Amino acid sequence: MQKNFEEYFPPGTEEHDLLLKVDFRRLPGHVAVIMDGNGRWAQQRGLSRAEGHNAGSASVREVVEASARLGIEFLTLYAFSRENWKRPRLEVGQLWRLLREYLGKEDRLLVENDIRLRVIGRKEGIPRPVLRELERVEEMTRTNGRMTLVVALNYGGRSEIVDAVRRILEEGRLGPGDLDEKEFAARLYTEGIPDPDLLIRTSGELRVSNFLLWQIAYTEIYVTPVLWPDFRKRHLLEAVLEYQKRDRRFGDIHAGTPRKK
Ligand code: IPE
Ligand code: IPE
Ligand code: MG
Repeated sequence: MQKNFEEYFPPGTEEHDLLLKVDFRRLPGHVAVIMDGNGRWAQQRGLSRAEGHNAGSASVREVVEASARLGIEFLTLYAFSRENWKRPRLEVGQLWRLLREYLGKEDRLLVENDIRLRVIGRKEGIPRPVLRELERVEEMTRTNGRMTLVVALNYGGRSEIVDAVRRILEEGRLGPGDLDEKEFAARLYTEGIPDPDLLIRTSGELRVSNFLLWQIAYTEIYVTPVLWPDFRKRHLLEAVLEYQKRDRRFGDIHAGTPRKK
């Protein structure tokens, strides 16, 4: 176990007890999260939806740091879908503002924890000031190697697939016989990122909501009723422990090694 674990997961706490059960040789290399339930969390407290999103940013901070400390190599967070533009303009504006503020404040957390930021999604449509912040933090963290934090923004799994086809057509290099899964995956936004091993969805919804459609072909899915603003490191540990109980077969008759891209 790494140093400063004790401080982050103090003995005597629930987190520490859960941590002792984790098999560090079988950590999910890539965890993807559909952060859901901010609105319901706020509603339950008579607060505005914006306050729910605000509270959700504390969960982001904690999960990012805990994942890096555990040794998870890739963490992907679904922060804004292409479909989320359907929400009231006020809420959409608040979400983008919150993200910009988060980047302005939390860039230090990424630097201190040696985390690289990468953004996936359609760049066109993302408000300019947010794009500038994203590019600044991506550039600032480019050489960080402990963990890659992938943030899905203006993201849709179907648009990603269409954009990959567009790239292939624009390149005009691949003929029908040259196209295979590897070539195709190399044109997705997630180029070079292994497929998620574990997909967590909070707030109990049993759907994928257009997230990483290609990449989750063999991902283990974990749904928790916990609403995103209540999600803490112990919930992450619970998800990892549940993942470690799964028998991943990849179509075979016994558990094998995860596929690497
Ligand atoms: C997730 O919480 C945040 C985003 C989709 C950006 P929601 O805002 O979807 O919360 P619920 O589902 O309405 O509770
Ligand atoms: C999925 O949550 C999108 C993000 C978490 C960014 P939604 O709340 O938008 O999904 P639906 O509408 O319940 O499917
Ligand atoms: Mg929702």
